Order: sequence, then structure tokens, then C-alpha cells
Amino acid sequence: MEVDIAFLPWTTALQAWPENTVVALPRGICRHTVRFVRINATVYAIKEIEQHYADREYALLFDLQRAGVPTVAPVAVVSSRLDDNGEPLPAALITQHLEFSLPYRALFSSAVRPETTTRLLDALAVLLVRLHLIGFSWNDCSLSNTLFRRDAGAFAAYLVDAETGEMHHRLSPGQREYDLETASMNVAGELMDLAAAGRLPDSIDPVMPSNSIQASRSSARKACHDWL
Ligand SMILES: Nc1ncnc2c1ncn2[C@@H]1O[C@H](COP(=O)(O)OP(=O)(O)OP(=O)(O)O)[C@@H](O)[C@H]1O
Ligand SMILES: [Mg+2]
Repeated sequence: MEVDIAFLPWTTALQAWPENTVVALPRGICRHTVRFVRINATVYAIKEIEQHYADREYALLFDLQRAGVPTVAPVAVVSSRLDDNGEPLPAALITQHLEFSLPYRALFSSAVRPETTTRLLDALAVLLVRLHLIGFSWNDCSLSNTLFRRDAGAFAAYLVDAETGEMHHRLSPGQREYDLETASMNVAGELMDLAAAGRLPDSIDPVMPSNSIQASRSSARKACHDWL
């Protein structure tokens, strides 16, 4: 894909890019600076990150896309950035903005029905199973590292942050269990945050995800095997 990214202000730290260069779109919680730009009607996400991690994440996203797993599409890594004083700046990973997707916090910005929470977790479980089937351990599966698209009455989940992931030939039961435990812990924390902010339906127990993801994963596993 040919993208005219040369004119972007690469000699400036991403955080300081002029407001007329970036577009304001919902974004999940993250450690790195992530901003969106529009080039010829296409929107891209730019994440400022050290070179080694940018290269690694690009390669993992590329492999995941090739394997047909729903993830954001990698576009390029911008490296060897220097500011106007010749000081080095971190590299930048460019991915295509996932159209019509929402971070989970945006979905919870207004009142949601209890089934919505369950459907999000079901979608996340399906994604995790698909990743495990191709030998990918995410190691940091969470609602924040996922984007959701409405898909008829349900949701489809896409991996957005592959930084901690590892591609193996196949995963051992122990590796799958570890990934599942991390997912349950992360999601429980995220649901507790939502509950503390009064955004979670009262009938949803924030510590339910371990059971819920386990249960969704078992049925998702069966469904995935049926598809394959
Ligand atoms: N291609 C994309 N399309 C849409 N949104 C995106 C895209 N890339 C990043 N984002 C948004 O930016 C957020 C942060 O991205 P990401 O999780 O990769 O950052 P991070 O700093 O590595 O996160 P962490 O703190 O988990 O390490 C995502 O939750 C998502 O909302
Ligand atoms: Mg993240």
C-alpha cells in the first residue's frame, strides 16, 4: 500500500503535533502516545514506541492478518526520527484505523444493557480462541487492547495491541491457561473500574469474567473447531 506519510511532522514528538494535523477519535487507555491522522480519506493510527517494539509489533500484526485473525492492519514503521535539534525521537508504528470500531469505554459511555457486557466478553473469548488456534499467546488480553465492532446483534472483537504477544508453532495447555488467567484478571479490573464509575449495569458482577470468559471460551472453542 502506498501512503503519502512524508509530509507529517516527524521531527516533532507525536504529543505535540498540531491540532489541524490530527483527528479526534475515541481511543482506549494506553501508555504510549497514540494519535489519528487522515490522509486522502483514509484514517491511520500512529503509536510512538521504541524501534525494537515497533518492528516486533508490525511483524506480529502482519502475521496475524495473514492468518486471517481480526486485528488492526499494520502499514509502516517510521524509524530514525530526529527532532529539530538532532535529538532522537521514538519510532512510530502506523496502522490503519479500524473503521466503525469502538474502544470498550466508548461503548460504556452511556447506559448499556447487561447482555451487551456478556456479548462483549463472548466476542473477546472468540478472538482469544482464534489467536490460540494459530499459536499466538497474547499475554496481555484485555478490553483496552481490543476494539469492538457491532456485528448484527452481537459484537466482533479485533486485536489492537500485539506488543506483548508471541507467535509459537502451537500453544501448550499451560500457555493457553496463562493467557486466559491474564485475560480474566485484566477484564475483571476493567469492569471494576467501570462499576466504580457507575457505568456497569447493576446486575453485572465485575468479578464474573473469569467464569464468563471460561464458559464463552469453551463454546467459542467448539464453534471455532466446527468452522475449521
Ligand atoms: N488502528 C487503530 N484503529 C483504531 N484505534 C486504534 C488503532 N490503533 C490504536 N488505537 C487506539 O489506541 C489505543 C491504544 O493503542 P495500544 O493499546 O496499541 O497502545 P499501548 O500504549 O501499546 O497500550 P498499553 O498501555 O496496553 O501498552 C487502543 O485502545 C485504540 O483505542
Ligand atoms: Mg494497549
